[in-house]
Order: sequence, then structure tokens, then C-alpha cells
Amino acid sequence: MIIARTIAEVRKTVAEWRKEGLSVGLVPTMGYLHEGHASLVDKAVSQCDRVVASVFVNPTQFGPNEDLATYPRDFDHDCKLLEEHGCAMVFHPEVSEMYDENAATYVEILSDMPKQLCGKTRPIHFRGVCTVVSKLFNIVLPDKAFFGQKDAQQLAIIRKMVKDMSYGIEIVGCPIVREADGLAKSSRNTYLNAEERKAALVLSKSVFLGQKMVKDGEKDADKVVAAMVKNIEAEPLARIDYVSAVDGVTMMPTHEIADGVLVAMAVYIGKTRLIDNFIVEE
Ligand code: PAJ
Repeated sequence: MIIARTIAEVRKTVAEWRKEGLSVGLVPTMGYLHEGHASLVDKAVSQCDRVVASVFVNPTQFGPNEDLATYPRDFDHDCKLLEEHGCAMVFHPEVSEMYDENAATYVEILSDMPKQLCGKTRPIHFRGVCTVVSKLFNIVLPDKAFFGQKDAQQLAIIRKMVKDMSYGIEIVGCPIVREADGLAKSSRNTYLNAEERKAALVLSKSVFLGQKMVKDGEKDADKVVAAMVKNIEAEPLARIDYVSAVDGVTMMPTHEIADGVLVAMAVYIGKTRLIDNFIVEE
């Protein structure tokens, strides 16, 4: 596996692949990789001749009081996992390689879409995500890019950005990978102590509860959300940021359960903010 630290190296290698007529897939990540990330690489490898993964903790998507400085990192482990899963190149740039000190250009969706859900408490987050993903698209020029349904709002926003900006890139969504007990895999799970790890199960349990209500025929989204909220509030270590039902494309609130509706949550367990969700499939 090639380890590239500069934009020029990535461009050179991808150009060589292109000359050979090979297709290219991109899996953007912030590292500290787990089986959730691996599932994206697996899907990319199954659909593309060469797969590039990026490992870059992107400063522009973190707010001033967020965990940029403490975000977990283990690049050696990341390389091992990526190589085992058939990744051809990992792009691991310094911040200075990605952002010139005078950089002043952002990619931002100006509708209400990035202001919903996570955007309510993370106002600059999706501007940072769109900017860095846009840069990665321009650097790698992939045919396809792979994103997890775990970050459902991020996936919807990337789809919108690709459409609005006419990127000729297919966005492939991948299902949420969970621990054996249900907790959605996340690099941030490492912040949890033993007691919090147990308490964190309240997220997936609430997702499963909501899914069951929908499966049993509940059509009132407010009732589904209320039952999930009640379930989370029974856990003393949990503090709700939001639990919401929204249109799966626009992210705008909805009161009705229908095909494609996203039911999403962010919940603090102690100091750690975790997310989980499900999509209604009818
Ligand atoms: P990161 O949190 O590292 O996630 C990278 C990709 O892995 C995202 O598409 C995310 O949805 C997916 N992922 C994480 N946990 C998953 C799980 N349990 N199951 C399935 N997929 C999972 O998301 C980011 O990084 C950044 O915002 C990024 C897009 C790289 C831009 O900086």
C-alpha cells in the first residue's frame, strides 16, 4: 500500500492508474479506524479497481470547544487495517498540506439543511466537512466515494453538494456497523469508561425501539420520537442533544412516518457525544 503525504504524490499515482484505464474509489476518514470504516473500504474494493483512503483529522469541521486536540489517532494501526482490506493508497497529509495559511475559500450549503440535527449545536461543522471532502474530490478525482449511514446528515449533505456542484462522482452510502451488543461503532467510543460504555447502549436500544414501533405500524413520527426520548431519559448518564424525525433528503422536520424518513439522535454519555439513527424503509 502506498502511503502518500502530499497532494502531488496522490495526483501522480492516480494519473498512472487512469492511464491503465483503472477505476478509482475514495473512502474519506479521520482515522482511528474500526470495522465501520473497514466496511466502506470493503465496498469500495468490490466496486473499484483501486481504492484510496484518506486519514486526516480535519480542523475546519471542529468547533472551538470540540475534541480536535484529543481526537484519537493511531496511524500505524490504520495502515494495517487499510492494507488488510485491500486499500491501494492512503493519503495522510499534514494540516499545512491541506490548508494554506491564507486559505479563505469554503464550500457551504446555504439552505437550512446543515442547520438541522447536528448543525444546531455544531454550526460550522458541515461547512468544514463540505470543504475538506470537496478538496479530497479535487485531489483524488475518484469515480465513486463511500460514506457511512452512521453520519446520516453528512451523507445527505455530501449528496446535495455533489448535485449542486456537478461533481461527476457517484456517492455510495453504506449501512451502520454495530458492536455485538448494538452500539454503533465510532472512533469516539474510546472516550467511554466502563460505566459509560454500558450506558451508551441506550442509543441503539432506542433506535431498535423506534424501528419496532414503525414496523408495528406507527405512523405518527412525534409518538416514535417521544417513546425514544422517554427511553433515553431513563438512563441517568445520558443527556439528549436531539432526537428528531426528518425528511431523509432535505433533513427538514416531519411529523409523519413515511418511506425514507430519517429518525436521528445525538446523545451525550458523560462528556462524549454519540450519534445513531435509522431510516424508515416501507
Ligand atoms: P469519520 O468519523 O472517520 O468517518 C469516516 C466514514 O466512516 C464516514 O463516512 C462515516 O459515516 C463512516 N463510519 C463511521 N462509523 C461507522 C459505522 N459504525 N458504520 C458505518 N460507517 C461508519 O466522517 C468523517 O470521518 C469526516 O467527517 C470526513 C467525512 C472524513 C470528513 O473529514
